[in-house]
Amino acid sequence: MPPGEARSHVKPTAKARERDAKGAQAGAPAGLDARAAAVRLIRAVLHERRSLDETLAREFAASPLAARDRGLARLIAGTVLRRLGELEAVLKSYLEKPLPETRAGRQGNLWFILLAGAAQLLFLATPPHAAVGLAVEQTRRDRCARRYDRLVNALLRRLAREGTSALQGHDSAKLNIPAWLFERWCKAYGEADARRIAEASLAEAPLDITVKTEPETWAKRLSGVVLPTGSVRLEAGGRIEDLAGYAEGAWWVQDAAAALPARLIGAGPGRTIADLCAAPGGKTAELAAAGAAVTAVDLSGARLARLRANLDRLRLAAELVEADAATWAPGCTFDAVLLDPPCTATGTIRRHPDILRLKRPEDVAVLAELQSRLLDNAVRLLKPGGTLVYCTCSLEPEEGVEQAARLLARTPQLERVPITPGEGGIAPGWLTPEGDLRTLPFHLPLERKELSGLDGFYAVRFSKPG
Ligand SMILES: C[S@@+](CC[C@H](N)C(=O)[O-])C[C@H]1O[C@@H](n2cnc3c(N)ncnc32)[C@H](O)[C@@H]1O
Repeated sequence: MPPGEARSHVKPTAKARERDAKGAQAGAPAGLDARAAAVRLIRAVLHERRSLDETLAREFAASPLAARDRGLARLIAGTVLRRLGELEAVLKSYLEKPLPETRAGRQGNLWFILLAGAAQLLFLATPPHAAVGLAVEQTRRDRCARRYDRLVNALLRRLAREGTSALQGHDSAKLNIPAWLFERWCKAYGEADARRIAEASLAEAPLDITVKTEPETWAKRLSGVVLPTGSVRLEAGGRIEDLAGYAEGAWWVQDAAAALPARLIGAGPGRTIADLCAAPGGKTAELAAAGAAVTAVDLSGARLARLRANLDRLRLAAELVEADAATWAPGCTFDAVLLDPPCTATGTIRRHPDILRLKRPEDVAVLAELQSRLLDNAVRLLKPGGTLVYCTCSLEPEEGVEQAARLLARTPQLERVPITPGEGGIAPGWLTPEGDLRTLPFHLPLERKELSGLDGFYAVRFSKPG
């Protein structure tokens, strides 16, 4: 790695901000700063293997970028991460010989600039003069890439001419979803549904909110729709903090599928519930809003601080505990335990496209093992007669139905309590034959495509008879 690269790896955000500020002062062409930020986001995920959300938080913490430019940077980066396989296939087919060290290296950000330019031309309907012109300008400003400015111009102009016909003949599901993941989905769901999952996962998710009360009123105020599950759905985009009802704590952001598991536990006044792996607290809020006495446990102090801030905004109460939920022993038991442990999150690719690029096959077994230790402690924390709900936002059977089967096999005192159709707004088609919740990203198709879909969630309910 050249010395300049090493420095940018250590302090990307401060340098990036400095560059943004300089760019703005030096009269950078309109739109250049947003493209520069997009390239930094792409690089952070693909080259530095950092999560997109974490990078966005750091990148934009004190950035002079306008909200619109931030949104554009995020959109471009998200599109590249979703469509990486297709974009790489098209770009590589145009190259007479491969660029040496394509991903990042001696050519600076050349490859990321090309990907961002191609994403704008093929998927974001950016006018060619803007996408091509700004990519060339970016290349010229990149010390290591500048000698390739004519190549960038030629490649992107050709792409602009050919448009989406350049994508014809490409199998988007197989190109964009890593082979190991697509094969897993084929095995678990069959190839036809694996393709539907892939296609739905490549779309951007709408914004779902859980409202404390009056979903119809809030849907009207926010120009959204009330889903059959009771969540309110809005088109994605814009700053959440600016929406009506946010500051006054009338609602919180939560995918419609993520809102379902907490409804299966029988939360209500007088019930004591341990919410294990609770932050940032979507489910804690649901349980507390239902009147339960909630103890929210999480390993991360920083994430608990976010949970506290969320609850404060929502004017809801819970006891917060920073602890490892696999060993936490408070000296008491609970009427119910909700466990929403860390998982591969392959059901949330619509919202977190970096999952496609950061998760590895070996993560499934590591996380499944952690989940099984957390489950064993969850059982210990349960009163006789108590209810346990285990859920994950994963599509992988090891983090779902297989985990439930293994728990039942080693814990004779537990019984599965099947979820019934209609319970908590759950459609019959979202239940497995055993009565577990199994939503898939292509579920909940609506008339408007951009408002369709669900995160892939699994949930199973057990009781510990007294
Ligand atoms: C899937 S998220 C939980 C989402 C949350 N239930 C909600 O609805 O907003 C998983 C959480 O588990 C926490 N975590 C990871 N390992 C843990 C452990 N051993 N004990 C407790 N919490 C843990 C992470 O900090 C993270 O906040």
